[in-house]
Amino acid sequence: MARRRRNRKQLDLTPREIKIESMAHDGRGVGRGEDGKVVFVDFALPGEHVRYVPVMNRKSYLFGTTIEVLEASEHRIEPKCAVFGDCGGCVLQHLDETVQIQYKQQALLENFKKIGDVQPQALLEPMTGDHWGYRRRARLGAKFVPKKGGMIVGFRERNTSYIQPTDKCEVLYPEVSALFPDLRTTLEQTSCNDKIPQVEISVADNAIVMIIRHLEAFVQNDLDLLTDFAKRNHVQVFLQPGNLKSVHPLYPVEPDALYYDFPEFDIRVEFLPTDFIQVNSGINQQLVAKAIDLLDVQIEDRVLDLFCGVGNFTLPLARKSNHVIGVEGDQALVNRAIHNKQLNKLGNVDFHFGDLFKEDMNSSSHGDWLEQKFDKILLDPPRSGAAEMIKRIPEFGASKVVYVSCGPATLARDAGVMVNQHGYRMTYAGVIDMFPHTAHVESIAVFEK
Ligand SMILES: C[S@@+](CC[C@H](N)C(=O)[O-])C[C@H]1O[C@@H](n2cnc3c(N)ncnc32)[C@H](O)[C@@H]1O
Repeated sequence: MARRRRNRKQLDLTPREIKIESMAHDGRGVGRGEDGKVVFVDFALPGEHVRYVPVMNRKSYLFGTTIEVLEASEHRIEPKCAVFGDCGGCVLQHLDETVQIQYKQQALLENFKKIGDVQPQALLEPMTGDHWGYRRRARLGAKFVPKKGGMIVGFRERNTSYIQPTDKCEVLYPEVSALFPDLRTTLEQTSCNDKIPQVEISVADNAIVMIIRHLEAFVQNDLDLLTDFAKRNHVQVFLQPGNLKSVHPLYPVEPDALYYDFPEFDIRVEFLPTDFIQVNSGINQQLVAKAIDLLDVQIEDRVLDLFCGVGNFTLPLARKSNHVIGVEGDQALVNRAIHNKQLNKLGNVDFHFGDLFKEDMNSSSHGDWLEQKFDKILLDPPRSGAAEMIKRIPEFGASKVVYVSCGPATLARDAGVMVNQHGYRMTYAGVIDMFPHTAHVESIAVFEK
Protein backbone atom coordinates (compact mmCIF):
# COMPACT_ATOMS: atom_id res chain seq x y z
CA MET A 1 0.00 0.00 0.00
CA ALA A 2 2.78 2.37 1.07
CA ARG A 3 4.57 1.47 -2.17
CA ARG A 4 1.49 2.14 -4.26
CA ARG A 5 1.04 5.53 -2.58
CA ARG A 6 4.68 6.36 -3.30
CA ASN A 7 4.22 5.40 -6.99
CA ARG A 8 1.09 7.53 -7.24
CA LYS A 9 2.98 10.45 -5.80
CA GLN A 10 5.65 10.04 -8.45
CA LEU A 11 3.14 10.05 -11.31
CA ASP A 12 3.30 13.44 -12.97
CA LEU A 13 -0.17 14.07 -14.35
CA THR A 14 0.82 16.96 -16.56
CA PRO A 15 -0.76 16.48 -20.02
CA ARG A 16 1.76 15.81 -22.81
CA GLU A 17 1.69 15.45 -26.57
CA ILE A 18 2.81 12.46 -28.56
CA LYS A 19 2.91 11.15 -32.11
CA ILE A 20 1.45 7.64 -32.31
CA GLU A 21 3.55 5.31 -34.43
CA SER A 22 1.86 1.92 -34.19
CA MET A 23 -0.82 -0.11 -32.47
CA ALA A 24 -0.16 -2.52 -29.59
CA HIS A 25 -1.80 -5.93 -29.63
CA ASP A 26 -4.34 -4.77 -27.05
CA GLY A 27 -5.51 -1.88 -29.31
CA ARG A 28 -3.61 0.96 -27.60
CA GLY A 29 -1.65 3.48 -29.66
CA VAL A 30 2.13 3.31 -29.18
CA GLY A 31 4.58 6.19 -29.33
CA ARG A 32 7.75 7.44 -27.67
CA GLY A 33 7.82 10.14 -25.02
CA GLU A 34 10.38 12.97 -25.00
CA ASP A 35 12.59 10.88 -22.69
CA GLY A 36 12.51 8.03 -25.24
CA LYS A 37 10.24 5.91 -23.09
CA VAL A 38 7.60 3.77 -24.84
CA VAL A 39 4.10 5.12 -24.16
CA PHE A 40 0.91 3.10 -24.62
CA VAL A 41 -2.01 5.48 -25.12
CA ASP A 42 -5.66 4.46 -24.83
CA PHE A 43 -7.94 5.61 -27.68
CA ALA A 44 -5.08 6.86 -29.87
CA LEU A 45 -4.54 5.55 -33.40
CA PRO A 46 -1.39 5.15 -35.51
CA GLY A 47 -0.51 8.34 -37.36
CA GLU A 48 -2.31 10.54 -34.84
CA HIS A 49 -0.91 13.37 -32.78
CA VAL A 50 -2.68 13.39 -29.40
CA ARG A 51 -2.57 15.04 -26.02
CA TYR A 52 -2.67 12.49 -23.20
CA VAL A 53 -2.37 12.22 -19.45
CA PRO A 54 -0.25 9.49 -17.87
CA VAL A 55 -2.20 6.92 -15.86
CA MET A 56 0.55 4.49 -14.87
CA ASN A 57 4.32 4.78 -14.90
CA ARG A 58 6.56 1.73 -15.15
CA LYS A 59 10.34 1.52 -15.38
CA SER A 60 10.50 1.04 -19.13
CA TYR A 61 7.07 2.22 -20.30
CA LEU A 62 4.18 4.50 -19.50
CA PHE A 63 0.43 4.11 -19.90
CA GLY A 64 -1.65 7.13 -20.80
CA THR A 65 -5.11 8.04 -21.94
CA THR A 66 -6.02 10.44 -24.76
CA ILE A 67 -7.64 13.71 -23.70
CA GLU A 68 -7.51 15.46 -27.07
CA VAL A 69 -6.87 14.34 -30.62
CA LEU A 70 -4.75 17.09 -32.21
CA GLU A 71 -4.36 15.42 -35.60
CA ALA A 72 -6.82 12.62 -36.29
CA SER A 73 -6.20 9.51 -38.35
CA GLU A 74 -8.24 9.29 -41.55
CA HIS A 75 -9.51 5.97 -40.17
CA ARG A 76 -10.91 7.43 -36.93
CA ILE A 77 -14.70 7.14 -36.68
CA GLU A 78 -17.36 7.98 -34.11
CA PRO A 79 -17.85 4.99 -31.77
CA LYS A 80 -21.35 3.57 -32.01
CA CYS A 81 -21.76 2.52 -28.40
CA ALA A 82 -22.77 4.97 -25.65
CA VAL A 83 -20.39 3.36 -23.13
CA PHE A 84 -17.38 2.97 -25.43
CA GLY A 85 -14.25 3.88 -23.49
CA ASP A 86 -15.71 2.85 -20.14
CA CYS A 87 -16.84 -0.68 -21.08
CA GLY A 88 -14.07 -3.26 -21.36
CA GLY A 89 -15.94 -5.24 -24.00
CA CYS A 90 -14.76 -3.31 -27.09
CA VAL A 91 -11.55 -1.30 -27.48
CA LEU A 92 -11.49 -0.49 -31.19
CA GLN A 93 -14.83 1.16 -31.97
CA HIS A 94 -13.04 4.44 -32.79
CA LEU A 95 -11.27 2.73 -35.71
CA ASP A 96 -13.00 2.06 -39.04
CA GLU A 97 -14.11 -1.57 -38.88
CA THR A 98 -12.63 -2.43 -42.26
CA VAL A 99 -9.24 -1.17 -41.04
CA GLN A 100 -9.37 -3.02 -37.69
CA ILE A 101 -8.85 -6.33 -39.45
CA GLN A 102 -5.83 -4.94 -41.33
CA TYR A 103 -4.16 -4.16 -37.99
CA LYS A 104 -4.97 -7.66 -36.79
CA GLN A 105 -3.35 -9.08 -39.92
CA GLN A 106 -0.28 -6.95 -39.27
CA ALA A 107 -0.17 -8.21 -35.66
CA LEU A 108 -0.37 -11.81 -36.87
CA LEU A 109 2.50 -11.32 -39.32
CA GLU A 110 4.62 -9.61 -36.66
CA ASN A 111 4.04 -12.53 -34.31
CA PHE A 112 5.05 -15.01 -37.02
CA LYS A 113 8.26 -13.10 -37.60
CA LYS A 114 9.24 -12.29 -34.02
CA ILE A 115 8.09 -15.42 -32.20
CA GLY A 116 8.12 -18.21 -34.78
CA ASP A 117 10.66 -16.94 -37.31
CA VAL A 118 8.24 -17.97 -40.08
CA GLN A 119 6.23 -16.27 -42.80
CA PRO A 120 3.30 -17.68 -44.79
CA GLN A 121 3.99 -18.21 -48.49
CA ALA A 122 0.68 -16.46 -49.25
CA LEU A 123 -1.87 -14.45 -47.30
CA LEU A 124 -5.52 -15.43 -47.26
CA GLU A 125 -8.04 -12.67 -47.77
CA PRO A 126 -9.35 -11.65 -44.28
CA MET A 127 -12.60 -13.46 -43.50
CA THR A 128 -15.23 -10.89 -42.56
CA GLY A 129 -18.90 -10.82 -41.59
CA ASP A 130 -21.31 -8.61 -39.65
CA HIS A 131 -19.56 -5.93 -37.62
CA TRP A 132 -22.46 -5.32 -35.23
CA GLY A 133 -24.90 -7.61 -33.45
CA TYR A 134 -22.70 -10.63 -34.09
CA ARG A 135 -22.11 -12.00 -30.61
CA ARG A 136 -24.16 -15.05 -29.55
CA ARG A 137 -22.27 -15.81 -26.32
CA ALA A 138 -21.61 -13.43 -23.42
CA ARG A 139 -20.85 -13.53 -19.72
CA LEU A 140 -22.31 -10.42 -18.13
CA GLY A 141 -21.49 -9.18 -14.66
CA ALA A 142 -24.34 -8.16 -12.32
CA LYS A 143 -24.33 -6.17 -9.10
CA PHE A 144 -26.83 -4.38 -6.91
CA VAL A 145 -25.44 -0.87 -6.40
CA PRO A 146 -28.07 1.45 -4.87
CA LYS A 147 -25.75 4.46 -5.38
CA LYS A 148 -25.84 3.80 -9.15
CA GLY A 149 -29.60 3.46 -9.22
CA GLY A 150 -29.99 -0.22 -8.27
CA MET A 151 -29.21 -3.35 -10.25
CA ILE A 152 -26.54 -3.03 -12.91
CA VAL A 153 -25.82 -5.54 -15.65
CA GLY A 154 -23.04 -5.32 -18.21
CA PHE A 155 -19.47 -6.17 -19.12
CA ARG A 156 -16.55 -5.32 -16.83
CA GLU A 157 -15.21 -1.80 -17.10
CA ARG A 158 -12.00 -1.19 -18.96
CA ASN A 159 -9.02 -1.43 -16.58
CA THR A 160 -11.16 -2.12 -13.46
CA SER A 161 -13.19 -5.03 -12.13
CA TYR A 162 -16.32 -2.87 -11.76
CA ILE A 163 -19.33 -3.56 -13.96
CA GLN A 164 -20.23 -0.98 -16.57
CA PRO A 165 -24.01 -0.35 -16.43
CA THR A 166 -25.23 -1.04 -19.95
CA ASP A 167 -28.71 -0.66 -21.42
CA LYS A 168 -27.80 -1.62 -24.94
CA CYS A 169 -24.87 -3.59 -26.31
CA GLU A 170 -24.11 -3.06 -29.99
CA VAL A 171 -22.10 -6.26 -30.50
CA LEU A 172 -24.55 -8.68 -28.88
CA TYR A 173 -27.41 -10.08 -30.92
CA PRO A 174 -29.99 -7.22 -30.95
CA GLU A 175 -32.71 -9.47 -29.54
CA VAL A 176 -30.47 -10.17 -26.53
CA SER A 177 -29.45 -6.56 -26.05
CA ALA A 178 -33.15 -5.60 -26.09
CA LEU A 179 -33.67 -7.74 -22.98
CA PHE A 180 -31.22 -5.77 -20.80
CA PRO A 181 -33.73 -3.32 -19.22
CA ASP A 182 -36.25 -6.04 -18.34
CA LEU A 183 -33.48 -8.35 -17.08
CA ARG A 184 -32.13 -5.61 -14.83
CA THR A 185 -35.57 -4.76 -13.38
CA THR A 186 -36.44 -8.42 -12.82
CA LEU A 187 -33.17 -9.24 -11.05
CA GLU A 188 -33.56 -6.12 -8.91
CA GLN A 189 -37.00 -7.26 -7.73
CA THR A 190 -35.67 -10.58 -6.36
CA SER A 191 -35.08 -10.97 -2.62
CA CYS A 192 -31.38 -11.70 -3.10
CA ASN A 193 -30.56 -9.08 -5.73
CA ASP A 194 -27.21 -8.44 -4.02
CA LYS A 195 -26.29 -12.12 -4.40
CA ILE A 196 -26.51 -12.38 -8.20
CA PRO A 197 -23.00 -11.87 -9.64
CA GLN A 198 -23.39 -13.06 -13.21
CA VAL A 199 -25.70 -13.83 -16.11
CA GLU A 200 -24.47 -15.98 -18.98
CA ILE A 201 -26.12 -15.78 -22.36
CA SER A 202 -26.19 -18.21 -25.28
CA VAL A 203 -28.13 -17.85 -28.47
CA ALA A 204 -29.01 -20.97 -30.42
CA ASP A 205 -30.78 -21.10 -33.78
CA ASN A 206 -33.96 -22.02 -31.88
CA ALA A 207 -33.73 -20.18 -28.52
CA ILE A 208 -32.09 -17.59 -26.28
CA VAL A 209 -30.84 -18.91 -22.95
CA MET A 210 -29.83 -17.09 -19.78
CA ILE A 211 -28.04 -18.78 -16.89
CA ILE A 212 -28.46 -16.81 -13.69
CA ARG A 213 -25.73 -17.41 -11.13
CA HIS A 214 -26.99 -16.87 -7.56
CA LEU A 215 -25.11 -17.17 -4.28
CA GLU A 216 -28.23 -17.41 -2.10
CA ALA A 217 -31.35 -19.54 -2.61
CA PHE A 218 -34.21 -17.85 -4.46
CA VAL A 219 -37.57 -17.79 -2.62
CA GLN A 220 -40.79 -18.77 -4.44
CA ASN A 221 -41.62 -15.16 -5.36
CA ASP A 222 -38.17 -14.82 -7.00
CA LEU A 223 -38.75 -17.98 -9.00
CA ASP A 224 -42.13 -16.63 -10.11
CA LEU A 225 -40.56 -13.33 -11.19
CA LEU A 226 -37.87 -15.11 -13.21
CA THR A 227 -40.39 -17.50 -14.73
CA ASP A 228 -42.56 -14.56 -15.82
CA PHE A 229 -39.47 -12.90 -17.33
CA ALA A 230 -38.72 -16.07 -19.28
CA LYS A 231 -42.32 -16.39 -20.50
CA ARG A 232 -42.85 -12.80 -21.60
CA ASN A 233 -39.50 -12.68 -23.41
CA HIS A 234 -39.63 -16.22 -24.86
CA VAL A 235 -36.27 -17.15 -23.39
CA GLN A 236 -35.07 -20.20 -21.51
CA VAL A 237 -33.92 -19.35 -17.97
CA PHE A 238 -31.51 -21.65 -16.17
CA LEU A 239 -30.30 -21.21 -12.58
CA GLN A 240 -26.80 -21.79 -11.27
CA PRO A 241 -26.69 -22.00 -7.47
CA GLY A 242 -23.17 -23.53 -7.36
CA ASN A 243 -20.55 -24.91 -9.73
CA LEU A 244 -21.19 -25.72 -13.40
CA LYS A 245 -22.81 -29.04 -12.50
CA SER A 246 -25.50 -27.19 -10.53
CA VAL A 247 -26.90 -25.49 -13.68
CA HIS A 248 -30.54 -26.53 -14.17
CA PRO A 249 -33.57 -25.21 -16.06
CA LEU A 250 -36.13 -23.02 -14.29
CA TYR A 251 -38.39 -22.33 -17.26
CA PRO A 252 -39.29 -24.19 -19.37
CA VAL A 253 -38.91 -27.13 -16.97
CA GLU A 254 -38.03 -29.34 -19.92
CA PRO A 255 -36.48 -26.92 -22.42
CA ASP A 256 -35.99 -27.80 -26.08
CA ALA A 257 -32.43 -28.88 -26.87
CA LEU A 258 -30.36 -25.97 -28.18
CA TYR A 259 -28.89 -26.30 -31.64
CA TYR A 260 -27.27 -24.57 -34.58
CA ASP A 261 -27.31 -25.86 -38.14
CA PHE A 262 -24.80 -26.07 -40.97
CA PRO A 263 -27.21 -26.10 -43.94
CA GLU A 264 -24.28 -26.49 -46.35
CA PHE A 265 -23.31 -29.80 -44.73
CA ASP A 266 -26.78 -30.92 -43.60
CA ILE A 267 -25.50 -31.03 -40.02
CA ARG A 268 -27.22 -30.09 -36.77
CA VAL A 269 -25.07 -29.44 -33.68
CA GLU A 270 -26.82 -29.66 -30.33
CA PHE A 271 -25.25 -28.12 -27.25
CA LEU A 272 -25.95 -27.23 -23.63
CA PRO A 273 -25.92 -23.58 -22.53
CA THR A 274 -22.68 -24.18 -20.60
CA ASP A 275 -20.84 -25.71 -23.60
CA PHE A 276 -18.18 -23.92 -25.63
CA ILE A 277 -19.53 -22.73 -28.98
CA GLN A 278 -17.86 -20.23 -31.33
CA VAL A 279 -18.97 -16.68 -30.43
CA ASN A 280 -19.77 -15.47 -33.94
CA SER A 281 -22.27 -17.66 -35.74
CA GLY A 282 -21.94 -16.11 -39.25
CA ILE A 283 -18.15 -16.30 -39.16
CA ASN A 284 -18.32 -19.85 -37.78
CA GLN A 285 -20.29 -20.98 -40.85
CA GLN A 286 -17.64 -19.45 -43.14
CA LEU A 287 -14.74 -20.69 -41.03
CA VAL A 288 -15.78 -24.33 -40.98
CA ALA A 289 -16.38 -24.33 -44.75
CA LYS A 290 -13.05 -22.59 -45.38
CA ALA A 291 -11.06 -24.92 -43.11
CA ILE A 292 -12.52 -27.97 -44.86
CA ASP A 293 -11.78 -26.40 -48.23
CA LEU A 294 -8.18 -25.60 -47.25
CA LEU A 295 -7.70 -29.17 -46.02
CA ASP A 296 -8.83 -30.32 -49.47
CA VAL A 297 -10.58 -33.28 -47.85
CA GLN A 298 -11.10 -36.29 -50.12
CA ILE A 299 -13.58 -39.05 -49.38
CA GLU A 300 -10.81 -41.62 -48.74
CA ASP A 301 -8.82 -39.29 -46.41
CA ARG A 302 -8.40 -40.16 -42.74
CA VAL A 303 -8.96 -36.91 -40.85
CA LEU A 304 -8.08 -35.99 -37.25
CA ASP A 305 -9.79 -33.04 -35.51
CA LEU A 306 -7.96 -32.03 -32.31
CA PHE A 307 -9.66 -29.88 -29.63
CA CYS A 308 -12.97 -30.76 -31.29
CA GLY A 309 -15.48 -29.48 -28.67
CA VAL A 310 -19.06 -30.52 -29.49
CA GLY A 311 -17.97 -31.52 -33.02
CA ASN A 312 -18.19 -28.11 -34.72
CA PHE A 313 -15.61 -29.04 -37.39
CA THR A 314 -15.69 -32.83 -36.94
CA LEU A 315 -19.32 -33.37 -37.97
CA PRO A 316 -19.14 -31.33 -41.21
CA LEU A 317 -15.78 -33.04 -41.92
CA ALA A 318 -17.53 -36.39 -41.65
CA ARG A 319 -19.75 -35.42 -44.60
CA LYS A 320 -16.60 -35.15 -46.73
CA SER A 321 -14.44 -38.05 -45.56
CA ASN A 322 -15.05 -41.70 -44.76
CA HIS A 323 -13.05 -41.70 -41.56
CA VAL A 324 -12.87 -38.86 -39.03
CA ILE A 325 -11.70 -38.81 -35.42
CA GLY A 326 -12.33 -35.96 -32.96
CA VAL A 327 -10.42 -35.55 -29.69
CA GLU A 328 -11.42 -33.25 -26.84
CA GLY A 329 -10.31 -32.72 -23.21
CA ASP A 330 -13.69 -31.92 -21.67
CA GLN A 331 -15.66 -35.14 -21.12
CA ALA A 332 -18.99 -33.29 -21.17
CA LEU A 333 -18.18 -31.98 -24.66
CA VAL A 334 -17.08 -35.44 -25.81
CA ASN A 335 -20.45 -36.78 -24.65
CA ARG A 336 -22.25 -34.06 -26.60
CA ALA A 337 -20.13 -34.76 -29.67
CA ILE A 338 -21.08 -38.46 -29.50
CA HIS A 339 -24.74 -37.45 -29.14
CA ASN A 340 -24.34 -35.20 -32.22
CA LYS A 341 -22.80 -38.06 -34.19
CA GLN A 342 -25.92 -40.13 -33.47
CA LEU A 343 -28.27 -37.20 -34.12
CA ASN A 344 -26.74 -36.78 -37.59
CA LYS A 345 -26.65 -40.56 -38.19
CA LEU A 346 -22.92 -40.55 -38.89
CA GLY A 347 -21.21 -43.94 -38.78
CA ASN A 348 -17.80 -42.70 -39.97
CA VAL A 349 -16.75 -40.52 -37.03
CA ASP A 350 -15.42 -41.40 -33.56
CA PHE A 351 -14.81 -39.14 -30.59
CA HIS A 352 -12.22 -39.63 -27.86
CA PHE A 353 -11.52 -37.96 -24.58
CA GLY A 354 -7.90 -36.83 -24.14
CA ASP A 355 -5.89 -34.16 -22.36
CA LEU A 356 -3.91 -32.82 -25.31
CA PHE A 357 -1.62 -30.74 -23.09
CA LYS A 358 -0.12 -33.82 -21.47
CA GLU A 359 3.56 -34.54 -22.06
CA ASP A 360 3.09 -38.28 -21.72
CA MET A 361 0.02 -38.96 -23.90
CA ASN A 362 -0.33 -42.65 -24.69
CA SER A 363 -2.89 -44.88 -26.31
CA SER A 364 -4.10 -46.38 -23.04
CA SER A 365 -5.04 -42.95 -21.63
CA HIS A 366 -6.04 -41.29 -24.93
CA GLY A 367 -7.13 -44.04 -27.38
CA ASP A 368 -5.42 -45.88 -30.20
CA TRP A 369 -5.83 -42.89 -32.56
CA LEU A 370 -2.47 -41.74 -31.18
CA GLU A 371 -0.75 -44.56 -33.04
CA GLN A 372 -2.66 -44.21 -36.29
CA LYS A 373 -1.81 -42.38 -39.50
CA PHE A 374 -3.90 -39.47 -40.80
CA ASP A 375 -3.91 -37.69 -44.15
CA LYS A 376 -5.31 -34.40 -42.88
CA ILE A 377 -5.33 -32.79 -39.42
CA LEU A 378 -7.32 -29.86 -38.09
CA LEU A 379 -6.39 -28.20 -34.78
CA ASP A 380 -8.43 -25.55 -32.96
CA PRO A 381 -6.82 -25.22 -29.52
CA PRO A 382 -7.54 -22.68 -26.77
CA ARG A 383 -5.47 -19.48 -26.55
CA SER A 384 -2.52 -21.27 -24.94
CA GLY A 385 -1.96 -23.16 -28.20
CA ALA A 386 -1.05 -26.77 -28.86
CA ALA A 387 2.65 -27.12 -28.00
CA GLU A 388 2.46 -30.75 -26.84
CA MET A 389 0.38 -31.93 -29.79
CA ILE A 390 2.55 -30.04 -32.26
CA LYS A 391 5.59 -31.99 -31.03
CA ARG A 392 3.85 -35.20 -32.10
CA ILE A 393 2.42 -34.03 -35.44
CA PRO A 394 5.09 -35.78 -37.61
CA GLU A 395 4.09 -39.18 -36.13
CA PHE A 396 0.71 -38.96 -37.90
CA GLY A 397 2.22 -38.50 -41.36
CA ALA A 398 -0.36 -35.89 -42.51
CA SER A 399 0.22 -34.05 -45.77
CA LYS A 400 -1.92 -31.08 -44.68
CA VAL A 401 -2.56 -29.48 -41.32
CA VAL A 402 -4.97 -26.59 -40.77
CA TYR A 403 -4.54 -24.70 -37.52
CA VAL A 404 -7.36 -22.39 -36.31
CA SER A 405 -6.22 -20.11 -33.51
CA CYS A 406 -7.50 -17.46 -31.11
CA GLY A 407 -3.96 -16.69 -29.86
CA PRO A 408 -1.63 -15.25 -32.52
CA ALA A 409 1.43 -15.53 -30.27
CA THR A 410 0.93 -19.25 -29.61
CA LEU A 411 0.04 -19.90 -33.25
CA ALA A 412 3.34 -18.21 -34.20
CA ARG A 413 5.24 -20.34 -31.67
CA ASP A 414 3.63 -23.57 -32.92
CA ALA A 415 4.05 -22.52 -36.58
CA GLY A 416 7.77 -22.07 -35.90
CA VAL A 417 7.99 -25.70 -34.77
CA MET A 418 5.92 -26.95 -37.73
CA VAL A 419 8.17 -25.17 -40.23
CA ASN A 420 11.61 -24.96 -38.65
CA GLN A 421 11.63 -28.35 -36.92
CA HIS A 422 9.11 -30.57 -38.71
CA GLY A 423 9.80 -29.37 -42.25
CA TYR A 424 6.24 -28.32 -43.19
CA ARG A 425 5.72 -25.28 -45.41
CA MET A 426 3.28 -22.66 -44.12
CA THR A 427 1.49 -22.20 -47.42
CA TYR A 428 -1.28 -19.85 -46.27
CA ALA A 429 -2.28 -17.83 -43.26
CA GLY A 430 -4.90 -15.20 -42.63
CA VAL A 431 -7.08 -13.41 -40.11
CA ILE A 432 -10.73 -13.95 -39.32
CA ASP A 433 -12.97 -11.16 -38.08
CA MET A 434 -14.52 -13.28 -35.33
CA PHE A 435 -14.57 -10.47 -32.74
CA PRO A 436 -14.98 -7.03 -34.43
CA HIS A 437 -14.21 -3.97 -32.23
CA THR A 438 -12.26 -6.06 -29.71
CA ALA A 439 -8.51 -6.60 -29.76
CA HIS A 440 -8.93 -10.39 -30.08
CA VAL A 441 -7.32 -11.91 -33.15
CA GLU A 442 -8.65 -15.14 -34.66
CA SER A 443 -6.52 -16.63 -37.40
CA ILE A 444 -5.94 -19.66 -39.56
CA ALA A 445 -2.76 -21.22 -40.98
CA VAL A 446 -2.19 -24.04 -43.45
CA PHE A 447 0.86 -26.33 -43.31
CA GLU A 448 1.79 -28.71 -46.10
CA LYS A 449 4.43 -31.34 -46.78
C1 LIG B 1 -11.29 -22.92 -29.25
S1 LIG B 1 -12.19 -24.24 -28.57
C2 LIG B 1 -12.60 -25.09 -30.05
C3 LIG B 1 -13.68 -26.11 -29.95
C4 LIG B 1 -14.22 -26.62 -31.27
N1 LIG B 1 -13.20 -26.91 -32.23
C5 LIG B 1 -15.23 -25.64 -31.86
O1 LIG B 1 -14.98 -25.11 -32.94
O2 LIG B 1 -16.28 -25.41 -31.24
C6 LIG B 1 -10.94 -25.18 -27.83
C7 LIG B 1 -11.35 -26.53 -27.30
O3 LIG B 1 -10.20 -27.11 -26.66
C8 LIG B 1 -10.65 -27.83 -25.55
N2 LIG B 1 -9.51 -28.02 -24.64
C9 LIG B 1 -8.99 -27.13 -23.75
N3 LIG B 1 -7.95 -27.66 -23.10
C10 LIG B 1 -7.79 -28.91 -23.58
C11 LIG B 1 -6.87 -29.98 -23.32
N4 LIG B 1 -5.92 -29.83 -22.41
N5 LIG B 1 -6.99 -31.12 -24.00
C12 LIG B 1 -7.95 -31.26 -24.95
N6 LIG B 1 -8.86 -30.31 -25.24
C13 LIG B 1 -8.78 -29.15 -24.57
C14 LIG B 1 -11.76 -26.99 -24.98
O4 LIG B 1 -12.61 -27.76 -24.13
C15 LIG B 1 -12.44 -26.51 -26.24
O5 LIG B 1 -13.45 -27.40 -26.64
